[in-house]
Amino acid sequence: SRFHALVPAAGSGSRMGAPHPKQYLDLLGLPVIRHTIDALLAVERLETVWIVLAPDDVWWAQYDWPHDPRLQVLMCGGATRAESVTKALEMIAQYVPDDTWMLVHDAARACISSAVVDRMLEALSEDPVGGLLAVPVADTLKRADKQGRVAETIARDGLWQAQTPQMFRIGMLRDALAAHPEVTDEASAMEACGHRPRLVPSDASNFKVTFPEDLAMAARILGAARE
Ligand code: CTP
Ligand code: MG
Repeated sequence: SRFHALVPAAGSGSRMGAPHPKQYLDLLGLPVIRHTIDALLAVERLETVWIVLAPDDVWWAQYDWPHDPRLQVLMCGGATRAESVTKALEMIAQYVPDDTWMLVHDAARACISSAVVDRMLEALSEDPVGGLLAVPVADTLKRADKQGRVAETIARDGLWQAQTPQMFRIGMLRDALAAHPEVTDEASAMEACGHRPRLVPSDASNFKVTFPEDLAMAARILGAARE
């Protein structure tokens, strides 16, 4: 079957608190999202890498991007991540077969390696549902009450932190998101439809650049990977 990637990059990066959306902040001399794009384009089996930008994005046009015909831009971002993904999928689904695998990957996970994406394709391409990269939770988890005291300790065994890519067939994913527009990731929409996505073990380096201190961490990870 065919494999595409979809990169939601229409957020404003409010938790980063920078004047520009975080996907355009400098990371080793390049915008954050450039690292994400380069890693995905290095995965040969990906036929197209779709980037979803906000309709009023004024930053993308200020940079040079790889001259690779597999790189495509859609200016159809919405108010939430789910809305950005949903609108893009509805557009793309008109042109590709329903069984096309779509790997949805956050622009802000710039430390993704093409090797781990390859491993994901290997693990899931024969799967009836698809799945997501994830890491087992290492810390003990506490649920807080409204006063900031521990209300409950949550056993960590069997708990995983969800990452992206999240890889599903475009037809099923489009229908799941249409039925469940409030989700924060693709897997949740699939789960709400009764599917059981597979967890593909990943590692902590594929974290999401969210807060200002995360940029230095991302630079260390990418720098180390180059050595
Ligand atoms: N995203 C998107 N459309 C939105 C919101 C988010 O395409 N309306 C994208 C972001 O650009 C990011 C990914 O979804 O690559 C993950 O979202 P998140 O890390 O929450 O990014 P932001 O929403 O931009 O950041 P914040 O929540 O701090 O505002
Ligand atoms: Mg957000």
